Amino acid sequence: MIQIAVMGYGTVGSGVVEVIEKNKEEINKKSGEDINIKYILDLREFPGDPYADKVVHDVELILNDPEIKIICETMGGLKPAYDFTKRALMSGISVCTSNKELVAVHGPELIEIAHANKCNYLFEASVGGGIPIIRPLNYSLTAEKIDGITGILNGTTNYILSKMEKEGADFGEVLKEAQEKGYAERNPEADVEGYDACRKIAILSSLMCGKNVKYQDIYTEGITKITPADFVYAHAMGKTIKLLAQSKEKEGCFYAMVAPFMISKSHPLYMVNDVFNAVCVHGNMLGDSMYYGRGAGKLPTASAVVSDVVDCARHIGKVIMCFWDSQDVALTNIDQASRRFFVRVALEKESQALQVFESVSVIEAPIEGEFAFVTDEMTEKEFNEKAEEVGIIGRIRIEE
Ligand code: HSE
Repeated sequence: MIQIAVMGYGTVGSGVVEVIEKNKEEINKKSGEDINIKYILDLREFPGDPYADKVVHDVELILNDPEIKIICETMGGLKPAYDFTKRALMSGISVCTSNKELVAVHGPELIEIAHANKCNYLFEASVGGGIPIIRPLNYSLTAEKIDGITGILNGTTNYILSKMEKEGADFGEVLKEAQEKGYAERNPEADVEGYDACRKIAILSSLMCGKNVKYQDIYTEGITKITPADFVYAHAMGKTIKLLAQSKEKEGCFYAMVAPFMISKSHPLYMVNDVFNAVCVHGNMLGDSMYYGRGAGKLPTASAVVSDVVDCARHIGKVIMCFWDSQDVALTNIDQASRRFFVRVALEKESQALQVFESVSVIEAPIEGEFAFVTDEMTEKEFNEKAEEVGIIGRIRIEE
């Protein structure tokens, strides 16, 4: 029997308990031993909960219990999750986490501590909710040199954009729905401003190059400036708008960014709607591969945490390889990246815009008082200079 503890009995933590209970037989068979939840750590009491007798408030009970071999850290945030995780790993207890913030900030350090203590720090649930993406990058695509990852990595914003597009729904109301469904972060600014997707692409980018991509270095824009009018234009162009997180290695330069993009119907991410996430990975031998599933929510995320528990159970006393060095990667400024841009200006600026941007494709859409167009390919720097000269209403990058 392998004794485990769950730290944090919120949305994901209670999901972990539910998954382990419901799929007990499968999980025990695949682990090679029975998994038993001995403790649930939380500050709150849960009277009437079937697991109320397992709830403890003192982390020392868990960390000092030699029977505990695996901890599921589903607390979120850096404090006190960082200290608890570090102490657990130093005692040889494996930790499985959904905490993307902690993984993005302290990932390489915690992996190193785990390996030095013959245990594991696994984080499948930290990116893409229930989608297996960490494991494919670590164990499946090992024959590849991966040179590009593009994904929809935040369920809340994809849910909001999908509802805005299909139902013309109000931003605030859909965000409330996403919160009620357990998709959004405690502070939903992390979702809508792109910070959550930024941490997730930092994790994937680090696994892609085996070194540390600091999330603070990644250019990040959220979806708060996207309006229903943008979707009217997108439809007129046969496109949709998605919050993309991407990292690319090109001629020795490494770019990473998070921003809303217009994508066309032929793009593999076009059909990824609602809470679903998807990640496209490009390898130099395999070419494109894509991973798709529910990117947020209690049970999908919990399922990914429990898959790590099974992996840890199969590797008690053994290290599972993960290449993520603490050496920082120098990202190239996105000013140098080239692409086309969709642009909206006031109608009276039409001739000035045509003069400054030179060759453009005009977009016809039923929006009054505006002139809209798509530029030729140019660098972000060139675009920003021209946009400033004209004074624009808005712009959205185009992903080809
Ligand atoms: N708030 C996150 C999202 C939860 O919406 O994707 C899953 O990481």
